[in-house]
Amino acid sequence: MENIWILKWVLLIWIMCPHVEGLGVNWGTQATHQLPPDTVVQMLKDNGIQKVKLFDSADNTMNALAGTGIEVMVAIPNNQLAEMNDYDRAKQWVKKNITRYNFKGGVNIKYVAVGNEPFLKSYNNSFLNITFPALQNIQNALNEAGVGDTIKATVPLNADVYESPANNAVPSAGRFRADINDLMTQIVQFMNKNGAPFTVNIYPFLSLYGNDDFPFNYAFFDGVTTPVIDSGIQYTNVFDANFDTLVSALKAAGSGNMTILVGEVGWPTDGDKNANVGNALRFYNGLLPRLAANKGTPLRPGFIEVYLFGLIDEDAKSIAPGNFERHWGIFRYDGQPKFPMDLSGQNQNKLLVGAQNVKYQSSKWCMFNPDAKDLSKLADNINFACTYGDCTALGYGSSCNNLDANGNASYAFNMYYQVQNQDDMACNFQGLAKISEQNISTPTCNFVIQISSSSSLMSSLVASLFITLLSMVLFL
Ligand SMILES: *[C@@H]1O[C@H](CO)[C@@H](O)[C@H](O)[C@H]1NC(C)=O
Ligand SMILES: *[C@@H]1O[C@H](CO)[C@@H](O)[C@H](O)[C@H]1NC(C)=O
Ligand SMILES: *[C@@H]1O[C@H](CO)[C@@H](O)[C@H](O)[C@H]1NC(C)=O
Ligand SMILES: *[C@@H]1O[C@H](CO)[C@@H](O)[C@H](O)[C@H]1NC(C)=O
Ligand SMILES: *[C@@H]1O[C@H](CO)[C@@H](O)[C@H](O)[C@H]1NC(C)=O
Ligand SMILES: *[C@@H]1O[C@H](CO)[C@@H](O)[C@H](O)[C@H]1NC(C)=O
Repeated sequence: MENIWILKWVLLIWIMCPHVEGLGVNWGTQATHQLPPDTVVQMLKDNGIQKVKLFDSADNTMNALAGTGIEVMVAIPNNQLAEMNDYDRAKQWVKKNITRYNFKGGVNIKYVAVGNEPFLKSYNNSFLNITFPALQNIQNALNEAGVGDTIKATVPLNADVYESPANNAVPSAGRFRADINDLMTQIVQFMNKNGAPFTVNIYPFLSLYGNDDFPFNYAFFDGVTTPVIDSGIQYTNVFDANFDTLVSALKAAGSGNMTILVGEVGWPTDGDKNANVGNALRFYNGLLPRLAANKGTPLRPGFIEVYLFGLIDEDAKSIAPGNFERHWGIFRYDGQPKFPMDLSGQNQNKLLVGAQNVKYQSSKWCMFNPDAKDLSKLADNINFACTYGDCTALGYGSSCNNLDANGNASYAFNMYYQVQNQDDMACNFQGLAKISEQNISTPTCNFVIQISSSSSLMSSLVASLFITLLSMVLFL
C-alpha cells in the first residue's frame, strides 16, 4: 500500500517538473585519453540523459550501454559507406552491430546514422554517390532482420544541404542545394516511406564564425532589435530560421510532413574569440528552456528531438574546421562540468554531475626551462609539441592567448608531456624543457594534468564475452 503511494508521488512529481524529454547528447571518442565507457554511462544516468548519439558502434561503448534502457543512435562512419553499397556487407553490419544487441537487457538502439554530414561542401562530393545506396541497404537489412519497425536509418546532414536564395533570404524560400536537389529528394522520400526522421546539425556558432557581419545577438535566443520578417512571422534567432528553412525545403521536395531531429547543436568554450563559457552559457540558457517547454519553431511548434554537441571535449579531433573543434563538450576532457547547466530548462544555477572516481596522472607539469641557452630550436620544438598535443587554447581570443613567449612554450611542452602520459623522455625538447612539481597554471589558462589512460579494458572484455554468450543462447 505504502509503496503505491510513494509511486504515485514520484509519478506526480515527475509529471509536474518540466523536463527536456527529448534531450540527448553526442558521445564522441576522438580523445587521446578517454574516460572508461562505464564512467561515461554513469554520467548519463546521473544527469538523467536518456538518449545518446554515437559516431560508430564500438564494442566497449555498446557493452557499457547494455541494460541501461538509454536510447542509442549508432553510426556508420563515412569511410565505411562504400562497403555498405554491397547488400550482403550491409546485412553483415546489421547482424554484428544491431541484431547482436537486440535482446532483453541488450542495447536500446533506435537509429542508425548512415554517414556523418557526407555532403559537406568541403568533402568535394567524395560521398555523393555512395550515401543513398548505403542508406537503402542498411534500412532494407534492418527490415529484413525484422527490426525495421523500431530501428530507423537516417543520414545526419549539415545544414549546408539547404539554403534560401541570396535575394530572398527567408525561411519560407528554403530549398535543398541545387547541386544535390534530386539526390536529397530521393533520400527524403525513401526515409519518409520507412518512417525515418530527417537528421540535421544546426550550428548558430558557425554562422557567427563564418561571417563577421552576422548579427551577434541573432545567434542566441534572447531577442534582436531587427528580426527577420517572413510572411508575417518574426524570426529572432538563427536556430529557428535555419530549422524552418529545412521545413520549407522538405515541403518543396514533397516530404513536408517528415519528422526532423536535430542531431547536433551546441556551443564551444575555447579556441575562438566567440567560443567561451559566457557565450555557451547564454546559448544553452536560451535553448534548454525552449526545448523543455516544447516551444518548437514558428513552422513546427511542439516537441523537437535534440542531441547536444557534445558530451566531452575531444583533444584529438581534426581542427580543419577551426581551433574550437576540440572544445564542444558540456564536460571537460576529464568529465567535469564547465559551467552551470540545467537540463530541466529551469535555468537553475547548478552544475551537472561530473564523472565519478576519475583517476589522474601525478601532479607534474612540463615547462620551458628558463636556463636554456640555445633557443634556436625553440620554434621547431613547439611545433612538434603542438602536432601531437593540443595547443588550440593558445590562439587569438582563446583562454591561453595572454601567455608570454616562455608561457607559450611551457603550455605546448606540457600538453605533449601529458599526452605522452608524463614519460620523462617527453619533457626534454633538446634541453629546452624541465619537469615542474608546481602548478604552473595562470588564472585564465589551465595547464592540465591528463587522466590515466582507460583501465576498463578488462571489464569491457568480460562484458563483451557476456553479451556474445547471451546472444548465442537467445538466437541459436
Ligand atoms: C561494427 O561496427 C564497428 C564499429 O563501428 C566496425 O568497425 C565494424 O566493421 C562493424 N562490423 C561489421 C561486421 O560490419
Ligand atoms: C577538396 O578540394 C580542395 C581544392 O581542390 C582540396 O584543397 C581539398 O584537400 C579537398 N578535400 C578533400 C576532403 O578531398
Ligand atoms: C557520381 O555519379 C555521377 C553519375 O553517375 C557521375 O557523373 C559523377 O562523376 C559521380 N561523382 C563522383 C564524385 O563520383
Ligand atoms: C508522411 O506522409 C507519408 C505519405 O503519406 C507517410 O507514409 C508517412 O508516414 C508520413 N510521415 C509522418 C511523420 O507523418
Ligand atoms: C603565443 O602563441 C600564440 C599562438 O601561437 C601567438 O598568437 C602569440 O603571439 C604567442 N605569444 C608570444 C608572446 O609569443
Ligand atoms: C592548477 O591551478 C589551476 C588554477 O588555479 C586550477 O584550476 C587547477 O585545478 C590546478 N591543477 C591541479 C592539478 O591542482
